[in-house]
Amino acid sequence: MKLIQGKYNGFCFGVKSAVEAVETELTRTKPVYILGPIIHNQGVVDKLEAEGAITVESVMQVPESSTMVIRSHGVPPEVYDQCRQRNIRIVDATCPFVARIHDIVQKACCDGWQVVIAGQKEHPEVIGINGFCGNKAWIVQTAEQAEALPGAERVFLVAQTTFVQEKFEQIAFVMATKYPSFRKQNTICQATRQRQTEAYELSQKCDAMIVIGGRHSSNTKKLAQICKNNCKNTYILESSAELPVENLELNGIIGIIAGASTPQWSIREVIARMNEQDLNTTVLEEQVPAEQAQAQPEEAVEAVQTEAAPQTEAEKPAEEPERELTPEESFERDLEKTMVRIRPGQVKKGTVVQIVGDDVFVNIGYKADGIIPQAELSLDPKATAADIASVGDEITVEIVKVNDGEGNVLLSRKSIERREQDRAAIAELEDGRYFDVTIKQAVKAGVLAEYRGARVFIPASQLSNRYVENLEEFVGKKVTVKALEVDKSRRRIVASRRQVLQEEAIKARKEKYKQFEAGQHVKGIVRRITDFGAFTDIGGVDGLIHVTDLSWGRPKHPSDIVSVGDELELEILSVNAETERIALSLKALQPKPWDHAAERYLVGDIVEGRVDRIAPFGAFVELEPGLFGLVHISQVATRRIDKVEDELRVDDVITVKVLDVDPEAKRISLSRRAVLQPERERPQRNHDSYDEDREPSYKLPPIEEAKVTLADFFPKMDDFED
Ligand code: F3S
Repeated sequence: MKLIQGKYNGFCFGVKSAVEAVETELTRTKPVYILGPIIHNQGVVDKLEAEGAITVESVMQVPESSTMVIRSHGVPPEVYDQCRQRNIRIVDATCPFVARIHDIVQKACCDGWQVVIAGQKEHPEVIGINGFCGNKAWIVQTAEQAEALPGAERVFLVAQTTFVQEKFEQIAFVMATKYPSFRKQNTICQATRQRQTEAYELSQKCDAMIVIGGRHSSNTKKLAQICKNNCKNTYILESSAELPVENLELNGIIGIIAGASTPQWSIREVIARMNEQDLNTTVLEEQVPAEQAQAQPEEAVEAVQTEAAPQTEAEKPAEEPERELTPEESFERDLEKTMVRIRPGQVKKGTVVQIVGDDVFVNIGYKADGIIPQAELSLDPKATAADIASVGDEITVEIVKVNDGEGNVLLSRKSIERREQDRAAIAELEDGRYFDVTIKQAVKAGVLAEYRGARVFIPASQLSNRYVENLEEFVGKKVTVKALEVDKSRRRIVASRRQVLQEEAIKARKEKYKQFEAGQHVKGIVRRITDFGAFTDIGGVDGLIHVTDLSWGRPKHPSDIVSVGDELELEILSVNAETERIALSLKALQPKPWDHAAERYLVGDIVEGRVDRIAPFGAFVELEPGLFGLVHISQVATRRIDKVEDELRVDDVITVKVLDVDPEAKRISLSRRAVLQPERERPQRNHDSYDEDREPSYKLPPIEEAKVTLADFFPKMDDFED
């Protein structure tokens, strides 16, 4: 006897997910309530009940604050409301294909369509779908019933997921001719259709068919019906114990198919029993068209054994060109896309479904609800669940673990807050705020660090205000940096430590400038001499002694007065912290030459001086630094001269006689002629009898009239440049 096992046998995607959801919940809490049998398979139900599951018929049977699983059939919206009122935590295992129908009909109703459901009125799935139509959908099972429906403006047809395709088409045909505005959405599940197609094809070539599944499952009943039409030896088995051994002792081919509610272990048990009974079975793998296998939403069914020899390359059929999907397959594929897959680190929106103590349960659309433990509620350690959310609130969470070891999806609200803080902190960096990072790694062109989850790159040229030979020396060091570029979307930052160092140095210098003020006396050390003055360190900052402030005299070069390294007592003339300039004076702390000129230079004194400058009306003679007298042209020689230069050159050192001293006007009149005249020719007089009226006939012009001042000979402070 040969055995062919259907390729699509066993749990469909939705059932498998629902059973897993119950199993997962049982690992974390007991009991777990299930609203209606989780599947139409007593064996599976018994097994789950033995582990702590309790099947109930209504929400009112579920104690408050318990956990309840909604099976793959789904429920009407009022069930969710009842659960909320009773503070029951829902684990929603509604099959995504069914949930999709809920969305479709809800939208159709909102858009003013009369919804018609092709399905069994009493089936929980149809009851659930009708609930999303406000319980106003029309429900039909046959084309005749569709014919008898009342009139309506716009009619929208959907189907129970396990409805028979052929019947759906018949109903659609009737309605399309009956209603002027008609639309349909074939919502029959591909998993069901695949099983039905397979049952049809297999039963045509088998001598007997075994359909494994619950007798109350409409799915199983439909499969058996399809098989019976082709093969009168069709048997429904709920377990291996029901195997009709006596009827199978024939030398033919037996086909085995199983409904979507049948677990794999149940199928294996039946095959094992057949072997035990010495039915001499050889299990053949059923061949399934490639496109059907592709459309299968669940894992490929495990092949028990195969006798078929592997095909050679030559025997293999040519690869079929990619074909267009049918609307149903597109629908299924779309649904596949909507199925929630989660991974750690993912941020998802969810709805708070229950709060137990400080644990918040959130529906994130996954097969199991997520839990936010108190420690993950908020960055504020004192925050309670009530501070964070209420039941029904939409909340954004991060998935920490898909399974925390107890079957829970571990969520965090705290990490969302941290992410928000990180985002704000990174945005602030665009304003030039400094931030600290620890350098983690040296790469070719710089070093890498991390800040608030963003990658920070510091180019080698921006690492220091000096050349860095070895980047590795910075690894592990904490440094303060400033962002040069911030890419918020990619969370990347290019930063500079060099700018920070430079800016801090400038800031520190400016602070130092604030310590000084005009008039203050300070000590300084000459650091550098230029043509226009001497830069002098007065304690961390340099000030300039302009050449005119080095001496009351007129030095030709600052080096005539000071040398590098000289320690000086200075007076601050002015401070400009912004431009970082301090003007210093050496001469300000030295006696002014005119202060004692009247005492040191008396009329009639014979003194020496250096010709400093020659003017048309006479020669200015420097008697001592900063103290000048004028030898009028008439007093330059003993003879009459046309030009001063006929007798004198600049820098000549000459002997002169003091004719007059006026400290107020800062004028000293000198005469060279009086010194050159023979003693006998000189008028004999003492200082007291000096009479200006008796002087030769010239009038000494005042210096001011010559419109020449000392300042004209020196550059001003503002004229110098560093
Ligand atoms: Fe869902 Fe289809 Fe199974 S609708 S429960 S995958 S039969």
